[in-house]
Amino acid sequence: MIVNTLGIDFGTCNIKIYNKNKKLIINERNIIAIEGKEKVLAVGNEAYEMYEKSPETIDVVYPISGGVIASIENARLVLKKFIGSGIGLFSKTCDYYVAIPSDITELQKRAFHKLITSSNIQAKKVYVVDRSIADAVGIGIDVHKARGVLVMNMGADTTEISVISMGSIILSRMLSIGGNKLDETIQSFLKRKYNLTVGIKTAENLKMNFCCAVSEHPDHKTKVPGIDVVTGLPVEREVSQNEICQALSEPLGTVMETMRVVLERTPPELAADMIRDGIYLTGGSSELRRLGDYITNTVGLKVNRFENPSESIVRGLAKIITDHEYNELAQEPREKVYD
Ligand SMILES: Nc1ncnc2c1ncn2[C@@H]1O[C@H](COP(=O)(O)OP(=O)(O)OP(=O)(O)O)[C@@H](O)[C@H]1O
Ligand SMILES: [Mg+2]
Repeated sequence: MIVNTLGIDFGTCNIKIYNKNKKLIINERNIIAIEGKEKVLAVGNEAYEMYEKSPETIDVVYPISGGVIASIENARLVLKKFIGSGIGLFSKTCDYYVAIPSDITELQKRAFHKLITSSNIQAKKVYVVDRSIADAVGIGIDVHKARGVLVMNMGADTTEISVISMGSIILSRMLSIGGNKLDETIQSFLKRKYNLTVGIKTAENLKMNFCCAVSEHPDHKTKVPGIDVVTGLPVEREVSQNEICQALSEPLGTVMETMRVVLERTPPELAADMIRDGIYLTGGSSELRRLGDYITNTVGLKVNRFENPSESIVRGLAKIITDHEYNELAQEPREKVYD
């Protein structure tokens, strides 16, 4: 019987799955389009194409919200599509390694386990791995050392800031600010200042291609298409980089407050390591231009950034699955839940 092992990072925006036998990672939008109550029209990138473009009879929804499972039924459907016969990832039975946030309740952690075991995807064993530990492993850190490592993963719905030493989480805080919040901030800024309504995809595009965390070219302008709130007609407005950059400083400032709390609570010997090595910045939103400079200007620590940061956690899962020295970082979930 063929046995396979899969590593899964259920992001709010993107689901990433490592397939050991095929030695590949898939990374697709974690979204599903459903007509009526249960007719699945599309899953993943194909469903995202319909987002904000579908008629009212079709729901295009994200099964994960704020780092936790919002709809177990929809999450199951996404899993089935990517792990089931859909794109041929499936072998006879599978072991699963699931990355989960540290700063959530035991009940919410347990829900990820239940999702796998109840999805009819031939789960042999299910292990859980702290997201931040997988993240650190994925960017090449030897987490076993007695050394304080500060990882900040900024994804779509969440930012998780963790201090790690000797293979364990010393301290972790998750807040519900990520790329989605930045997109919403751009949307509401345009509405407030320019009476311009734009879709979330336009806001995200602007964020990726025009915005910075620290303004690079303050006078740099771009034309943004949308609907005039007053006339209801399609229009274009000219917007400067500087003003959007200032709007983004509000949610980014809140993230930095949490960073300060984590730094204040870190034991001094570990803090000394972090001052020397700096912050390890990961997650898709770490690609926001000059975010590293913004963080350094605010908390005074240097920032390390990485290629393809949206996949750092799943790359860590791949190493934990394939490297014996790292395998003990995965745990079987606790049987009993008391909260
Ligand atoms: N070049 C870029 N500039 C700014 N943001 C970017 C860029 N590329 C991707 N992003 C943002 O990264 C986010 C997706 O990152 P990621 O895949 O790490 O999130 P996720 O794991 O799905 O979410 P979470 O961890 O919060 O559940 C999106 O909000 C996207 O807009
Ligand atoms: Mg993520």
